[in-house]
Amino acid sequence: MASEQAVFVAKLTKSYGKIRALRGLSFRIEKGEIYGLIGPNGAGKTTTLRILATLIQPDSGEARVFGYDVVKNANRVRAIISYLPEEAGAYRNLSGLEYLKFMASFYATDESSLQEMVEEGISISGLEGRIRDKVKTYSQGMKRRLALARTLMVQPKLAILDEPTSGLDVIHAHHVRSVIKRYVEDRGLTVLLSSHNMLEVETLCDRVGLLHKGNLVEEGPPEELKRKHRAANLEEVFVEVTAIA
Ligand SMILES: Nc1ncnc2c1ncn2[C@@H]1O[C@H](COP(=O)(O)OP(=O)(O)OP(=O)(O)O)[C@@H](O)[C@H]1O
Ligand SMILES: [Mg+2]
Repeated sequence: MASEQAVFVAKLTKSYGKIRALRGLSFRIEKGEIYGLIGPNGAGKTTTLRILATLIQPDSGEARVFGYDVVKNANRVRAIISYLPEEAGAYRNLSGLEYLKFMASFYATDESSLQEMVEEGISISGLEGRIRDKVKTYSQGMKRRLALARTLMVQPKLAILDEPTSGLDVIHAHHVRSVIKRYVEDRGLTVLLSSHNMLEVETLCDRVGLLHKGNLVEEGPPEELKRKHRAANLEEVFVEVTAIA
């Protein structure tokens, strides 16, 4: 059944062979929130995002996106999310413009909405001067911006972004964050992202969940967590909590 709660995750477990990546993870995200998953390497962030993006299945527990079960209603979920993987593969021989048009063609209902999506994608990517060049000639950061543009231009209800600004320079990371904020404010987008950039999480996220060894060990608005731990910034909270957990 459809629901206004964007993400519902309860007692989720997932193992890869002997490695227990998720150990009973639970959290919720309300519509219109920007929720940041932080945590050390191997904590289970990408595993969580991939389960919500219906790419892998949990071993047990429940995960819903706007009420739809990610296993039982995977197609419904796919229709309302878009996912930016940790390492987005690129179609090297297409130009940036051809790539955006190709991606928009899966979502657009007519020529004018396709055109609109592509224009939006070009603007998000900040690749105006290079959009007709082949993707294989782009730098790493340019490819990342193209992938991010593709993810947001299709106007999903939930954007799942795995380290959206990794590899981006300060100016473009700033641009990407303001685009995300604008989409949330203007279009009611909900965002679940993972990040290693504590400054980014502090400025962008309404709430953060600190994931450690497959479980949430802390959660709340950045300001509240800083107050609770008497910390000057989120990095201090992160170090303190993961050291004792
Ligand atoms: N395909 C896989 N096969 C085996 N083990 C895996 C696989 N994917 C992830 N793991 C393991 O699951 C655990 C969680 O990995 P995950 O990628 O979810 O972490 P993460 O929080 O995203 O880390 P990072 O910050 O490095 O991106 C790790 O111990 C990892 O080695
Ligand atoms: Mg990861």
